[in-house]
Amino acid sequence: MLEQVDELLRTALSTLDKVTDLNELEDWRVRFVGRKSALTQILRSISSLPIDERRIVGARANQVKQTLEAKLAEKRMELEERLALTLQRSSIDITLPGKAVPLGRLHPTTRTLREICEIFVSMGFQVVEGPEVEWDYYNFEALNMPEEHPARDMFATLWVDFVNAEGRRPMLLRTHTSPVQIRVMEKSRPPIRIIAPGRVYRYEATDATHEWMFYQVEGLAVDKNITLSDLKGTLFEFVRRLFGEDRRCRFRCDYFPFVEPGVEMAIDCLICQGNGCRLCGNSGWIEILGAGMVHPEVLRRVNIDPEVYSGFAFGMGVERIPILRYGVDDIRLFYSNDLRFLEQF
Ligand code: FA5
Repeated sequence: MLEQVDELLRTALSTLDKVTDLNELEDWRVRFVGRKSALTQILRSISSLPIDERRIVGARANQVKQTLEAKLAEKRMELEERLALTLQRSSIDITLPGKAVPLGRLHPTTRTLREICEIFVSMGFQVVEGPEVEWDYYNFEALNMPEEHPARDMFATLWVDFVNAEGRRPMLLRTHTSPVQIRVMEKSRPPIRIIAPGRVYRYEATDATHEWMFYQVEGLAVDKNITLSDLKGTLFEFVRRLFGEDRRCRFRCDYFPFVEPGVEMAIDCLICQGNGCRLCGNSGWIEILGAGMVHPEVLRRVNIDPEVYSGFAFGMGVERIPILRYGVDDIRLFYSNDLRFLEQF
């Protein structure tokens, strides 16, 4: 039995060496010095041994028990100290401020587009969209600009010709939102009152007020007895709602083959207060839209009788509005993706 006690001591000590945390230490305690451990069983059975053996085994077993309990206490202290040190090192300072999550925001063009749409929707206009890749027919021909018409030069065009077995059909990136007028009038009958926001593309050199890709909002109203004063009244009201009562706007004659008469509308330059600067080309005015009364020939092409119906149309440049409102002195800033600029809105 003495050998059994010594063997137990060896096993217990070598197992204790491998213990690395307090949970393992508790398992070790139960296994080697607990109430159901082999050592406790031996101590309980000592009374049944012959008297001379009882003394020797009893002394040895008690000595082993004391050794193991001392080792247990030692190991527990060591593990507790190690744990305290680890906790101290990895402690979290809960008073530190959290990491700020950057907030996203709407692009100034998107915000402006939404505002424009809201104003016209409140006046009874419906919002429609058309394709950005467009047929020559809708972008030019149906708008009174047949092939070789010199007015096509007003719209420097990016062509993406479509070719199939039947031949070539001229296709392009729309140069304005006016083709949506034709698409709408082909499908619906007056009274018509729509606006069409969207991207347009022009093959032209950029400068402070010109981009090669920009947004326009087209407007179209067709009904009986629509006159130029309806057009002016609608646009004045729009400018008043968007820019406030004090804004000055100016109408001048302009030429677009799909309207007659044609006008352009400009707003006094907010940056120089009308005195002249780089942005307004020293004129004091910034043109924001082209407009006019829908040409009878355009109405006829979509089977709307110009003797019965008339209409007005306009097409405005969207970026010019935040330029005027926020005093941005270069349109190219909008799409150069510089967060320092965009985060100001
Ligand atoms: C047109 O695009 C006509 N479709 C407008 C129209 C519609 C006239 C309906 C009559 C009836 P224009 O090329 O002038 O017209 O462009 C209209 C507006 O778009 C301009 O007033 C200007 O605000 C804006 N714009 C034109 N070119 C650029 C450009 N390169 N970069 C930024 N904005 C532009």
